[in-house]
Amino acid sequence: MSELVALSRDGQVLCATLSRLEKKNALTGAMYQALVDAFAQASRDETIGALLLRGREGVFTAGNDIADFLSVAGSPGASPGTIFIRTLASLEKPLVAAVEGPAIGIGTTLCFHCDLVYAAPSARFQMPFVNLGLVPEAGSSLLAPQRFGYAKAAEFILLAEGFDAAVARDLGLVNAIVEPGELYAHALAKAQALAAKPRDALLATRRLLRGDPAMLKARMDEELRLFGEAVRSPQARAAFMAFMQKAKA
Ligand code: COA
Repeated sequence: MSELVALSRDGQVLCATLSRLEKKNALTGAMYQALVDAFAQASRDETIGALLLRGREGVFTAGNDIADFLSVAGSPGASPGTIFIRTLASLEKPLVAAVEGPAIGIGTTLCFHCDLVYAAPSARFQMPFVNLGLVPEAGSSLLAPQRFGYAKAAEFILLAEGFDAAVARDLGLVNAIVEPGELYAHALAKAQALAAKPRDALLATRRLLRGDPAMLKARMDEELRLFGEAVRSPQARAAFMAFMQKAKA
């Protein structure tokens, strides 16, 4: 377990807390790997009925670590981020998220895979892939138009406009807005309620709600192929460098 992803147990719920506050919980390869390991632990362990993902101190995640994007060109094979995305989509047990502050890039797209999402009023969602010379990931090119309709998906993915907790709730990405001091307890109570249901019925019903995963898997493969090309492009590398230089300035 990486200490940048802290795991804790509360009854039948396994909670993963992103803890890289100095970098706004930007996700590194090691953090993705820690999350994949937590998902695997939850799948193996029959005493775990649900997962809860949260950030800390008003920050969910600033998305993929941009310095890691820059080093991707030198590392062939499936990255931990790719493995995380595939694991997220194939997770059997329910996943609940508690979102405060920035939920950028994968911070937004992972929410499409959650069963329940609770957000503080400070939550700010954005999918800035195109701005960075990238394409969407985690099936969001399919799931965003399905969830929001094409018009809003174009606003959020082509224009890369951010949106707040109220918009996310009104469009069905977020279940409810909860005051920050109560957010974790609220999300945990909902995760515990899921975990307390008859397990086989819950998991079978979850599979039915999600439907045939074939189309999602095919879209994720296509996104990952295009993403793999885009992340190495001069345009994307220039955007990453610009962010890193701005951060240093
Ligand atoms: N990757 C790497 N480092 C990141 C990061 C990311 N995705 N997001 C933030 N950081 C780092 C910053 O470089 C800065 O590091 P420093 O203190 O060493 O300079 C630190 O986290 C704090 O970030 P800062 O931008 O100063 O905080 P802020 O409160 O002004 O803004 C965000 C927060 C999340 C809005 C802003 O950091 C941001 O837009 N991040 C990039 C998001 C992004 O494009 N992610 C990729 C999606 S595909």
